[in-house]
Amino acid sequence: MSEAVTRSAHSVSTSPGLLASLDPLLREWLPRQRWFAGKGRPVTGFSLVAATELLPWNAKLGFLHLLVRAHQPLVPTQGAAAHPSDCYQLLIGVRETLPPRLAPALIGHPEEGPLAGRTVYEALHDPRPADVLLEALRARARVGELRFERDMRQEIRDDLVPRMVTAEQSNSSIVYGDTFILKLLRRVLPGTNPDLELPLALSREGCPRVPAPAGWMLADLAGDTYVLGVLQPFVQGATDGWDLVLRGLAKGEDFSGEARALGRATAEVHTALARALPTVTLGRGQMELLADGMIERLEAAVQAVPALRPYAPGLRSSFEALGELAAEGQTWTAQRIHGDLHLGQCLRSPAGDWSLIDFEGEPSKPLAERRMPQPAARDVAGMLRSFDYAAHSHPSVVPGWADACRAAYCSGYAEVSGRDPRTDPVLLRAYETDKAIYEVVYEARHRPDWLPVPMAAVRRLALSEGP
Ligand SMILES: Nc1ncnc2c1ncn2[C@@H]1O[C@H](COP(=O)(O)OP(=O)(O)OP(=O)(O)O)[C@@H](O)[C@H]1O
Ligand SMILES: [Mg+2]
Repeated sequence: MSEAVTRSAHSVSTSPGLLASLDPLLREWLPRQRWFAGKGRPVTGFSLVAATELLPWNAKLGFLHLLVRAHQPLVPTQGAAAHPSDCYQLLIGVRETLPPRLAPALIGHPEEGPLAGRTVYEALHDPRPADVLLEALRARARVGELRFERDMRQEIRDDLVPRMVTAEQSNSSIVYGDTFILKLLRRVLPGTNPDLELPLALSREGCPRVPAPAGWMLADLAGDTYVLGVLQPFVQGATDGWDLVLRGLAKGEDFSGEARALGRATAEVHTALARALPTVTLGRGQMELLADGMIERLEAAVQAVPALRPYAPGLRSSFEALGELAAEGQTWTAQRIHGDLHLGQCLRSPAGDWSLIDFEGEPSKPLAERRMPQPAARDVAGMLRSFDYAAHSHPSVVPGWADACRAAYCSGYAEVSGRDPRTDPVLLRAYETDKAIYEVVYEARHRPDWLPVPMAAVRRLALSEGP
């Protein structure tokens, strides 16, 4: 199969009319995809960044790899979070007609250009194109501007049966024979992506808490490298932390043993990241900037959600306390962190081992910001908030359940790292407050039923002295 990939190895970016052929279909299809980042703004046009034939488009089964920029007008109220044009990775299958099992993958029937009269569809649902990707990784293929790489120490068998993951996610994944999972990033950016960078660094450190990348897929375009996908060992039979907690709560089970194990796993990852990648000391200037950023976000949140107004002075005091400590000369260590840690990013194997996944950070933020060293307390605060969410998502949770989890998590963290996050209550409270404020704005906008959860945390944090 690698031969097939290499034989057809050419870029088709010059193929006249290819994008014109797809344009009307993509305008309909793209905004409906879960992973489309520009929801709420019309797509006014596309430009082709790269097009690569992975199987010839005019063959019985064609497979095109496209990087396409979707142009969208900026809406002033969306501010800096909105991008005028995002680049998406599209994997397009081309057939005469679709077999019924592929009906849900249909993109449409082009009416003009080279693809006129054929059927185009989301190729990842189809085993043959999915095989082509794994084969290209196995073979370390170069196809047009696409570069497939692998870690030769990991065996990738050639008989793994692919299936696309159908659960909602902001990227797309294919599981191969319950052995590997290939995550294909959808909105792609030039530069080093932490979703590959951090697992590779952890793998070099021998940290067993993160599945070590077995392969990765890149595009080299005009001097920039884009990370397109990462292949990692699949944790068979795993349950994510959120589902595990909900199941446990339904049975009235205590979770503090698992919370402690999660604290240990987080500390293992942090310790390995601090060894693998640069750390910096944050002094007065940087910490004041950090606190000012939190205060700015609070002010914007109060504008957006007036229910926050009565709590604003108490919340603000969390951030001011951090600025005051910095002014007194306290310093903090910053290192690379997960950046978006919560129970849903933790997988527990049937043997009871925890892994952390999804190191892309906050996808709406620029890569440079996501890759900046930060105090590890930020990840810890994310997990503490996650326990609080879990507790509120169940109607009859035992009183003190979340507090027990939060304490056990911090104790586990301290056992491995030698540093209990609770010994720096000002920093932890500031990060937890910042996160809870973010959640209030998010829930008010997207899931008003959930708004009482972060509002309860806001009330607690506004009144308390510690986390
Ligand atoms: N190594 C793995 N082993 C088993 N399952 C995995 C593995 N990696 C990811 N998964 C499953 O795939 C899901 C999506 O993975 P991931 O979070 O990396 O993708 P994402 O597109 O960034 O998702 P999200 O939209 O939640 O941020 C996970 O919630 C988990 O269920
Ligand atoms: Mg993600």
